[in-house]
Amino acid sequence: MASVLSPYATDWLDLVFRWFHVIAGIVWIGTSFYFVALDNHLEPVEGRDDLAGDTWEIHGGGFYRIEKYRVAPQRLPEPLHWFKWEAYWTWISGFTLFVVLYYFQAHETLIDPTVANLSTLEAVGASIGLLIAAWLVYDALCRTIGQRSEKALAACIFALVVGTAYGVTHLFAARAAYLQVGAMLGTIMVANVFFVIIPAHRELIRAKKAGRAPDPAANVRGKQRSVHNNYFTLPVLFTMLAGHFPFTYGHAHSWAILVCLMAIGALIRVYFNNRHAGRTLWWIPVAAALGIAGIAIWIRPASVPASGAPVPFSQVKSIVQQRCAYCHSMNPKSTTYTTAPQGIRFDTPQEIASQASLIETVAVQSKLMPLNNKTNMTDAERRLLGAWIAQGAKIK
Ligand code: HEC
Repeated sequence: MASVLSPYATDWLDLVFRWFHVIAGIVWIGTSFYFVALDNHLEPVEGRDDLAGDTWEIHGGGFYRIEKYRVAPQRLPEPLHWFKWEAYWTWISGFTLFVVLYYFQAHETLIDPTVANLSTLEAVGASIGLLIAAWLVYDALCRTIGQRSEKALAACIFALVVGTAYGVTHLFAARAAYLQVGAMLGTIMVANVFFVIIPAHRELIRAKKAGRAPDPAANVRGKQRSVHNNYFTLPVLFTMLAGHFPFTYGHAHSWAILVCLMAIGALIRVYFNNRHAGRTLWWIPVAAALGIAGIAIWIRPASVPASGAPVPFSQVKSIVQQRCAYCHSMNPKSTTYTTAPQGIRFDTPQEIASQASLIETVAVQSKLMPLNNKTNMTDAERRLLGAWIAQGAKIK
């Protein structure tokens, strides 16, 4: 089934909303990192009990002095700058992109019948339902277990991420599954801003106007969620970039790889947050490097024996033309992909040979390509391609 929109319209919406999403995301994450670092830089100010601290900064050709108030200044300042639209626009643009690329053409991108034979309605319903459930479950955990122990809460969130990663990689197409996990965490992040952090700020202002002490619980909650958001950023960013790395999402244990890389991302935030507060936890970068090396060794491609009968290029060419050039060509026969996806074309022997290692990742080591095996590639053909690559991917 084709997309709701024409391929050309999809391309433009992809371009515009991806551009927008990346920019909004940079601004949001930039402010999030900046304020967490700022909090960690604050030093107590003598004789000023109303201040939580202050700090000096130099940037863009000038000195800045920033003071943080414990509760609120004497008079409500005017103008007061809020930080929320960067979060909302990141979510709105990201969700729009997800709808255009994954819901409107669910049969090409969200659904893989070899993983789960879902209808469009089932797949889109499951995806949206999971986004909502992620927030409801997370929020309930924060309000219960999170009131007693941050460690217990972190353990619960980690267990949920593991379960979700496992579940969605067994529900959606490989590439979509990673994004679904990222979108669920991203939805939690923006809901934290909308439902908890901004309301805590409004309470501060209401209390100030009414001349009463603000409800401290609202602020504690706001701070807790803002710290969570900070730890979610690197894991979410990996899921957003993972589409470039088929050797991760295309692996048979893609869910475990995702969980490990996300855990490493969160740990790296722990390292930086401590460092801004003057503590250097050297074990973290060491553990992160060892973790990445461990994953790299664990998922290294199984080597295909170069021995066996030499595979003539003519045979490879006919397999690729039959199974891949349907989409990856200057003039694709596909009506969904009217230009070669990712600019990858297999029209000439040189084009085929120069992509040999990518072909190995997506069509030999994994079955990511042909997309949903649209062109019915056989396992014997995959083995032949693997043997040809192992023999040096020669075109003569
Ligand atoms: C039905 C259309 C279709 C067919 C057939 C197809 N591809 Fe693809 N291919 C795509 C699309 C779409 C993408 C973009 C990635 C995505 O959306 O998952 C892609 C991406 C790729 C990439 C880039 C992966 C990356 O992210 O770096 C490679 C390499 C590739 N295909 C190789 C192949 C090979 C080899 C074959 C044949 C065995 C093949 N494709 C058959 C549609 C197709």
